[in-house]
Amino acid sequence: MQTVSFIGDVREVVENARAAGRRIGFVPTMGALHAGHAALIRQAHEEGCFVIVSVFVNPAQFNDAGDLAAYPRTLTADEAVCREAGADLVFAPEVSEIYPAGFATQVTVDSPLTKAWEGHFRPGHFAGVTTVVAKLLLIAQCDRAFFGEKDWQQLAVVRQMVRDLAMGVAIVGSPTVRESDGLAMSSRNVRLSPEARKTAKIIPYLLDTAQDLLDSATPETQTDKGGVIAAWLRTLLESNAPDARLDYLAVVDPDTLVEVDEITNYAQVIIAVHIGGVRLIDNRKIVKRF
Ligand code: PAJ
Repeated sequence: MQTVSFIGDVREVVENARAAGRRIGFVPTMGALHAGHAALIRQAHEEGCFVIVSVFVNPAQFNDAGDLAAYPRTLTADEAVCREAGADLVFAPEVSEIYPAGFATQVTVDSPLTKAWEGHFRPGHFAGVTTVVAKLLLIAQCDRAFFGEKDWQQLAVVRQMVRDLAMGVAIVGSPTVRESDGLAMSSRNVRLSPEARKTAKIIPYLLDTAQDLLDSATPETQTDKGGVIAAWLRTLLESNAPDARLDYLAVVDPDTLVEVDEITNYAQVIIAVHIGGVRLIDNRKIVKRF
């Protein structure tokens, strides 16, 4: 495995891998890698791809300068994770390599998909994501790109961009990797105090409760309706974690992220909540069983 920081070097390595008949798999990341990222890299490797991992803290997708400055940068440890998980190339560019002086292009998905939920609470975030992902996909010239279901809305937005621009890359979604108590792995988890870390267990608990509510629905309880499920979960959150500050909690269509009431087949429960000053997001699919 080697690490490079210039676009031209990636192009050369890709050309050689292709000449050797390899398919290119790409895993974009912002570093501070954990087992969730490692699972994406491993999946690409196990599918037989020549695996490129980008490590780039993308300033364009942060709407808070403090958050950007505080983002952990751990390249040496990240390289070890990449090597262990089967990566072939790490691309770790400087900001000036991705956004050189005079850079003026934006790629935006202009639809309700980017305005709701994360888009509402983090204005400009998705434009930053799609611009950098478009550029990284062009640099990596990959056949397949791997994204975590943890960031469900991001996955939907990236799929839309790739479809709209006929980018010819298969977008592969990969299941969320969780801690033993169910909390989704995230580079932000280390910022949780021991007390907040305990409270954070409420998130997977709420998501699992959504499925239980759907399973036990009766004509009286109506807990097969998205709005009713969301209301139940909000009440549960308030009583179990009164200090948590909810950004959103909703039952939505998995593809459009539009709120659904009547769940006919399946739906996605999405949540963003501040616990102990740390903003955490998560989601899960709920399935109507007959
Ligand atoms: P980052 O937060 O570093 O995440 C990189 C990839 O890892 C994303 O596809 C994310 O969904 C996935 N991931 C994070 N935690 C995960 C978990 N617990 N289980 C499974 N997958 C997980 O997402 C970004 O970076 C950026 O927006 C990026 C796409 C790199 C563009 O800058």
